[in-house]
Amino acid sequence: MTTRHMLVAGNWKMHTTSGEGAVLIQDIAQRVEEEWNEVEVAVCPPFTGLKAASTVIELDGLRISLGAQDVHWEAEGAYTGAISARMLTELRCDYVIVGHSERREFFGDTDQSVNKKVRAVFDAGMTPIMCCGEALTVREALETESFVRAQVTAGAAGLTSTEAQRLVIAYEPIWAIGTGRTPTPEAANDVCRSIRATIGAMYGPPAAMAVRVLYGGSVKPENAAMFFAEPDIDGALVGGAALKADPFADIVKAAR
Ligand code: PGA
Repeated sequence: MTTRHMLVAGNWKMHTTSGEGAVLIQDIAQRVEEEWNEVEVAVCPPFTGLKAASTVIELDGLRISLGAQDVHWEAEGAYTGAISARMLTELRCDYVIVGHSERREFFGDTDQSVNKKVRAVFDAGMTPIMCCGEALTVREALETESFVRAQVTAGAAGLTSTEAQRLVIAYEPIWAIGTGRTPTPEAANDVCRSIRATIGAMYGPPAAMAVRVLYGGSVKPENAAMFFAEPDIDGALVGGAALKADPFADIVKAAR
């Protein structure tokens, strides 16, 4: 039994122009209108698509949350190419994905920078979707839970208990991202339960009860319901299948 509100978030990565994104949002909205009371639906376009996305969401009165894919931890300054949290709140972002494995691999994110970004996102009044997850070598060494626990402990350090309750954590095994391979739902749930326990140890039982833990990595319409049936999985962070309205809407429907 869970009272947590299911969240299905689309991570569009480096796909879609702002025009394509606006159309995709309208196509998704048409298909999930009956679901969005029960399931929170979020889209995370590239930075350049956020303005058009927030405009279409507002003008069409859509109940779709908006997220960015990254943020800089400083409020402003000489950081060429970077985007601050305040710039994202101005565009009415609700969420920011922080510490995605692709940011860690290609752009130098560390547990320490992830923690600073989480802080910046909360300070600006938004909610981080903090990503964690192990590489295949870690899984094969049977060290998944301790590895993920360390990522969560470092990334979610220094929160208030209210912030810990609002936090969203996405468990995304790196070897499952974009590969079509997934852990079994039970194995994914084991890690999500351990993430919840980690937050509980840091911030107490109310935070453990309230923190939403998503599964991500090759979530498709065919497998989504199995993940959502698990007690510690509160939704999904979806990559490839979020780029077309039909499969994304089917994943949302599976979360009802
Ligand atoms: P995928 O990506 O659904 O394409 O595996 C998930 C993610 O990276 O968030």
